[in-house]
Amino acid sequence: MGNGLILGIETSCDETAAAVVERGRRTVSAVVASQIATHARYGGVVPELASREHLRAIVPVVRAALEQAGVGFRDLEAVAVTAGPGLAGALLVGITYAKALAYANRLPLIAVNHLEGHIHAVLLREREERDARQFEEPVLALVVSGGHTHLYLARLHGGLWSYELIGRTVDDAAGEAFDKVAKLLGLGYPGGPWIDALARFGDPDAVSFSFSQVKTKAHLRGKTPRTKGANTSPIAELDPHFLFSFSGIKTAVLRYVELHGLRDESERRAELLYPARAERDGRGTDGVAKPAQTKNEALALSTQKTLDLIASFQHAVIGDLMKKTFGAAERLGANRILVTGGVAANRELRERFSQGAEARRLAISFPTKTLSTDNAAMIAAAAWPRYEASEFAPADLSADPALKLT
Ligand code: KG4
Ligand code: ZN
Repeated sequence: MGNGLILGIETSCDETAAAVVERGRRTVSAVVASQIATHARYGGVVPELASREHLRAIVPVVRAALEQAGVGFRDLEAVAVTAGPGLAGALLVGITYAKALAYANRLPLIAVNHLEGHIHAVLLREREERDARQFEEPVLALVVSGGHTHLYLARLHGGLWSYELIGRTVDDAAGEAFDKVAKLLGLGYPGGPWIDALARFGDPDAVSFSFSQVKTKAHLRGKTPRTKGANTSPIAELDPHFLFSFSGIKTAVLRYVELHGLRDESERRAELLYPARAERDGRGTDGVAKPAQTKNEALALSTQKTLDLIASFQHAVIGDLMKKTFGAAERLGANRILVTGGVAANRELRERFSQGAEARRLAISFPTKTLSTDNAAMIAAAAWPRYEASEFAPADLSADPALKLT
């Protein structure tokens, strides 16, 4: 029996990541090179820039992961890579490099779905902390990130997990709403951590936002919705109780800002945050637009009305995520809830989901904060059961920007 070491590579969006994980349960090393500084000035990920940055970072990041693990290529048992969903050009950088590594070192290649990776970020932690403990099934998994807001019912069959799609967003992902609202309020990118930090200074009940139930409109039947993550699934067959919609609340926040004269204040924060943007894109002397402002400075530039708006927005989004997730758990008889993806790093989300689970006597788990956002440890962990089942990727593996989990 080998040493169980799998090298994971993740390049689906704006983080170039590599990690070595042992048997899907122990992180030996994990390296993440973030492109935040590159994309921050644009307030969102620019696909062409993402591919270029991945090309620049992939070799040193993989080398660093191996060095930190103290192993060489020939100590590995397999190479795992994210095959989708994500940005086509970004995915291709990781896939091409992973294929070359696998071929040159005669290692099997394992293709991993990015969403399954997020789910395994939680399973990895569970296995690390509670040795060999059985996971209650079925598990209801909420994957909530910048590209996805998806509910899956997960079951274990002979060592492999299978997933059934229960609900999803019909428009924006929850993380996308955090990012867009932060942008319009003149806060940093990505917006989630900024809203998380400022929300605790506001009154969550100051502004009431309503989420009306999403209707499966006739024109959507059989069609697939458009979302940033491009993980498209027909929504017509899903229970409308478990559909999310986050584009409305972004518009409601915008309207509130206009109506209450908060626009100038937002622009002042944006100017402080992106001095290079004020100078006009690209003409800054250092060529790098680093967020110059800290969250404390943003706080100092915010009126109570804005802080109340931020707190109310966050409270409303989390309330809606909870209502549908717990509703689905009850309806489907799930025994454990798992919340993962970038938004799962949110403090209020963790607190309220934990309280909600306790009140309903449901088990709940989250990834560690570092494994909430994109990383490669989760990819290597998700690859382990596939390695054991000898489920290897074909030699002509390609990027699938719309890869589905079910
Ligand atoms: O999982 P992730 O790194 O990338 C995707 O697969 O999309 O998630 C990134 C998203 C961004 O939208 C970011 O604003 C959000 O996660 N995020 C948060 C927090 N940290 C990151 N949202 C709310 N609160 C946070 N603390
Ligand atoms: Zn992700």
